Amino acid sequence: MTIDQLEFRQVMGNFATGVTIVTAAHAGKYAGFTANAFTSVSLDPPLVLVCIGNQNASLTVIETSQAFCVNILAADQEDLARIFAKNGPAKYEHLAQVQHHAASTGAPILAGTLAWLDCRLTQAYAGGDHLILMGEVVALGAAPGDPLLYLRAKYTRLGQ
Ligand SMILES: Cc1cc2nc3c(=O)[nH]c(=O)nc-3n(C[C@H](O)[C@H](O)[C@H](O)COP(=O)(O)O)c2cc1C
Repeated sequence: MTIDQLEFRQVMGNFATGVTIVTAAHAGKYAGFTANAFTSVSLDPPLVLVCIGNQNASLTVIETSQAFCVNILAADQEDLARIFAKNGPAKYEHLAQVQHHAASTGAPILAGTLAWLDCRLTQAYAGGDHLILMGEVVALGAAPGDPLLYLRAKYTRLGQ
């Protein structure tokens, strides 16, 4: 059976997720992209995975820095999610205006997020037109608040 790509997206869209921005930095270059293909993998050692498109510009910086930070967005950060879902350097000009500081790996931790996980890249597995990036969590943090959600191709919030 051939699976129609649009139908695949629509069916997967029923799986409600949070929204993250995965960031990285190396030698003055920044990377950041909106991602919801994120999950925890292992408790001991603490591992998470993020799926990244083979063509994503962020991949080079993640590979050269061998690290990334997963920033879990709060309900009021939809604008940020939209900006980092775009291609091109304009979003990094925006990053300069968004409050952030460097995690121990150097990856930016964005201000106002619900939580963050600073990760060292341990493995990258081929997965069709994406790569599965496995990261060992080296530092993390969380703050109170509600998450930004994504369901059926729309941003939403708890109780909406
Ligand atoms: C809600 C949402 C979730 C997304 N999740 C992912 C994801 O998990 N992995 C991915 O590679 N792209 C994902 N994207 C698309 C990227 O954010 C988009 O391709 C971005 O332009 C990539 O930026 P870059 O080329 O600078 O790395 C998602 C987009 C949206 C709106």
